[in-house]
Amino acid sequence: MPDLSVSLGRLKLANPVVVASGTFGYGEDYKDLAPLKKLGAIVTKTITLKARSGNPPPRIAETYQGMLNAIGLENPGLEVFICEKLPYLEKVGIPIVVSIAGDTPAKFAELAGALSKLKGIAALELNASCPNLGKKGLIAQDARAIYQVVKAVKRATKLTVITKLSPNVTDITRIAKAAEAAGSDALSLVNTFFGMAVDVKTRRPKLGNITGGLSGPAIKPQALWMVRQVFQAVKIPLIGMGGIMDTQDALEFIICGASAVACGTANFVNPRATADIIEGIKKYLKETRIKSIKKLIGSLNER
Ligand SMILES: Cc1cc2nc3c(=O)[nH]c(=O)nc-3n(C[C@H](O)[C@H](O)[C@H](O)COP(=O)(O)O)c2cc1C
Repeated sequence: MPDLSVSLGRLKLANPVVVASGTFGYGEDYKDLAPLKKLGAIVTKTITLKARSGNPPPRIAETYQGMLNAIGLENPGLEVFICEKLPYLEKVGIPIVVSIAGDTPAKFAELAGALSKLKGIAALELNASCPNLGKKGLIAQDARAIYQVVKAVKRATKLTVITKLSPNVTDITRIAKAAEAAGSDALSLVNTFFGMAVDVKTRRPKLGNITGGLSGPAIKPQALWMVRQVFQAVKIPLIGMGGIMDTQDALEFIICGASAVACGTANFVNPRATADIIEGIKKYLKETRIKSIKKLIGSLNER
């Protein structure tokens, strides 16, 4: 039997396939649809200190080979997450990665500190795709801001810290290096690409928020390229994502340097996609006589 286990810093996963933040709720809603125990990890929907009601509807629009979303970080807030969502997640028995967001380093650190006191959390994923307070753009677009957020979180927690990168930047390796320099244990990439769609009958935007984030197969080649660039630029492990729908997609990301892969949009099409991919990777390793998935990570043959 091939060895599927991978490491993200000190965090060990039994296999490299996880669910992407925001596409799998807090696990419980999917308990009858997907074999949760088989996943490498569950990454929760992003939580903030206070509850957020999110953006006005419509929040989703289908596109060719993908979808646009503008959920606006709707979430129940830290207290409700701890009291109502975490108890179920703890029982699943696989690593739980809690995705957190704030608009200042202090808010990220407050969340990290509070979550560190609890049992059952393996790692934190920093969703820095939120407005950079007092400046234009997102925290994830500003290398200094990312550095400050990661530093503040690292001071507040001993949990594994994974920084999630936005693809909406000129040079993603600059942001990746800033997160690494601040002590991030791993990186997740990519979040959604900015996009929009228009209803030509009404000439209104299809999303209530006007703009949203594009995900799904449409973004896969760009996401893969970014994973490759970041793999060559940093030493810390990567979780690759962006349009992974099947085993072939997942293997491409691993070969380009991802130690683990996340499925997002795929969960809306097939909630068992992650489980199918785990089986598919096992089969591929057996057929190619590769004993450990670790041998495949970053093994792109460039000639
Ligand atoms: C409906 C929806 C909600 C999302 N919510 C979050 C979120 O709360 N936090 C986050 O970091 N990323 C969020 N994402 C981004 C995904 O985690 C992922 O980075 C992105 O969709 C690319 O992967 P995919 O093409 O497999 O979906 C969301 C994506 C979708 C489609």
